[in-house]
Amino acid sequence: MPPMPRNLTSLTLATLMVAGQLAPAPLLAKPAASASAQAPVDAAGWMRPDPKMDRFIAELIAKMTLDEKVGQLNLLTSDWESTGPTMREGYKDDIAAGRVGAIFNAYTAKYTRELQRMAVEGTRLKIPLIFGYDVIHGHRTIFPISLGEAASWDLQAIEKAARISAAEASAEGIHWTFSPMVDIARDARWGRVSEGAGEDVYLGSLIAAARVRGYQGDDLSRPDTILATAKHFAAYGAAQAGRDYHTVDISERTLRDVYLPPFKAAADAGAATFMTSFNEYDGIPASGNRYLLTEVLRDKWGFKGFVVTDYTSINEMVPHGYSKDLKQAGEQAINAGVDMDMQGAVYMENLAKSVTEGKVDIKKIDAAVKAILEMKYRLGLFEDPYRYSNEAREKATVYKPEFLEAARDVARKSIVLLKNKDNVLPLAAGAKSIAVIGPLGNSKEDMIGSWSAAGDRKTRPATLLEGLQAGAPKGTSVTYAKGASYAFADAGKTEGFAEAIALAQKSDVIIAAMGERWDMTGEAASRTSLDLPGNQQALLEELEKTGKPIILVLMSGRPNSIEWADAHVDAILEAWYPGTMGGHAIADVLYGRYNPSGKLPVTFPRTVGQVPIHYDMKNTGRPINPADPNAKYVSRYLNTPNTPLYPFGYGLSYTSFSYSPVTLDRAKIRPGETLTASVTVTNSGARDGEEVVQLYVRDLVGSVTRPVKELKGFEKISLKKGEKRTVRFTLTDADLAFTRADMSRGSEPGQFKLWIGPSSAEGHEASFELTE
Ligand code: BGC
Repeated sequence: MPPMPRNLTSLTLATLMVAGQLAPAPLLAKPAASASAQAPVDAAGWMRPDPKMDRFIAELIAKMTLDEKVGQLNLLTSDWESTGPTMREGYKDDIAAGRVGAIFNAYTAKYTRELQRMAVEGTRLKIPLIFGYDVIHGHRTIFPISLGEAASWDLQAIEKAARISAAEASAEGIHWTFSPMVDIARDARWGRVSEGAGEDVYLGSLIAAARVRGYQGDDLSRPDTILATAKHFAAYGAAQAGRDYHTVDISERTLRDVYLPPFKAAADAGAATFMTSFNEYDGIPASGNRYLLTEVLRDKWGFKGFVVTDYTSINEMVPHGYSKDLKQAGEQAINAGVDMDMQGAVYMENLAKSVTEGKVDIKKIDAAVKAILEMKYRLGLFEDPYRYSNEAREKATVYKPEFLEAARDVARKSIVLLKNKDNVLPLAAGAKSIAVIGPLGNSKEDMIGSWSAAGDRKTRPATLLEGLQAGAPKGTSVTYAKGASYAFADAGKTEGFAEAIALAQKSDVIIAAMGERWDMTGEAASRTSLDLPGNQQALLEELEKTGKPIILVLMSGRPNSIEWADAHVDAILEAWYPGTMGGHAIADVLYGRYNPSGKLPVTFPRTVGQVPIHYDMKNTGRPINPADPNAKYVSRYLNTPNTPLYPFGYGLSYTSFSYSPVTLDRAKIRPGETLTASVTVTNSGARDGEEVVQLYVRDLVGSVTRPVKELKGFEKISLKKGEKRTVRFTLTDADLAFTRADMSRGSEPGQFKLWIGPSSAEGHEASFELTE
């Protein structure tokens, strides 16, 4: 366990395995403590009725042949880059023949212009292409991986990162990003934990909306805004055993309360497109799932954009055992509500026949075509198909100094200080010789992590060594030895150890830069172990024997099991993959030029055996009694505590914060009434700093069991040393809603506990009642 802040009681430790999620849609509109950051803009601006557009599209569709219509429903990758297992040769011929509505993995003003010309000049109706790309955490200027950004708990910074990504991508001909990935991820074995906002429904929903706003702005016709995609719909993060693409088998209640809310938040924020997931839900693959794509998304949520599949996921319904052949798969997909087929060419090759045979109603095709053409119209492509492909704008936009500065700022904000024994950080003036050791200490390619779009992996990223050298105070030397390897195959080897140990011995402090190679997280990057891969752990143990202070800078895209490090090294920073400016950002934190303020968006287990572990667990009928933690016949492990190594919401600062007891303005609320919970937070340490003040709630008894804690509000505040501030959170019954026993959504009267504190495991408690 991390040390408890001195001024806090440990009253919540007994219920460490905290609670639930749910509800975010109403919460988004709620004037939460940090209301200014969370207030929705006119997000669905593009949905405003546009009779001129309706006429234009109706006339265009009336002119289209069946083949031309089906052509609009296909998305193909260019041969610039491959983000999946197949490559269709001759995609340029497909464009020229009108068989394609959109292209992905092609960018630059020049190349998109060239492909656009083929569509516009080569086809009868001159319908322009949409260019899509995985702009996930930056386009050229790369920000920290999405999980890292989430650790900032700073919605404005996250929105700004998406805005800058859109500005750069759109200047290179991109109209559409396959982001945000809003999958809740609770299994650190799953490599795609790195791509989302972590384990929590409330935080994840707010971040989903912030990212959609950032990409789309409030006007899609502005050439620096791009279409967002909420993906992967739905429940992809629940893959069994954390193995990518594996089966999902969860209850309908869990789907509604855990996995759907961030998608609902993205839809409410106006996400123009949704992407289906690879997995099945309740036995039906997502790309053939009418319940998800039509009943929930369109009928219940009122989604008006278009739905694209994930990469060849229509084809994959055959190996899933849901479709007997590709033709049937295509029929199932369009009838379920899939508008666009990514890379599968299933629609391209089968759909016209299915219509002629009466297996698919032409109305279905028309509706899909309409949804896609509307986006082309709203992007302004019918007015000028080349408006995003402008070389002068491209040159003036990418890698702008202000973008790089913003990336450095977000990277600093994303870093989480996990341990800081005896305030070894920030580095003392006396640390005149710094040894950077480890495979991530001077590796450019790792800095930007996976899914880093058109980011330069070779030359631009500042490594940790470079950042530390560039920022070193006068008279301080920073030297490097790789020492160890993160390659799985190098476990057991000791080559390089001697050099690293010799360097450590003659230095004042060791910065151990360890973690995972950039492609050990992301898609198709599941692991059965969360340990430091290769021979890094062995080197760390050797370094400890030198007796020199060790600061572990962890770079990874998932929680690693670092229990040994927690017990033995002096300080630990989780830096994720911090992006193009990452080395400078980490140096800012190590030298104390930025006081760390990140908090974990995901629980760090002690060992992989605890996974899945998340704070909002259920209590069970046999919870551990803290007074008798080793009792038999309770829900626990024989060899490891139930508690995580670092809980959700946890992160230290170079200063300290003290929390007053919680005050409630009333003990009871009725539906519709507002409860205000207040706490006064004091910066009781010696530096200015920022703190994420977190509000959790527990619904003690429900018609179905409720999680032991659920995040319901947070505010990131900045306090000068000695300064104090009262933070107020408001709650109504809408914030307490969940999927009840009868599957209706709403709150239930009864007793509630509430905590306000610095993490999910700490805080002062209060109680209130929701009456009828
Ligand atoms: C991934 C998606 C991605 C798509 C296109 C798929 O393999 O699952 O997240 O957007 O490829 O690159």
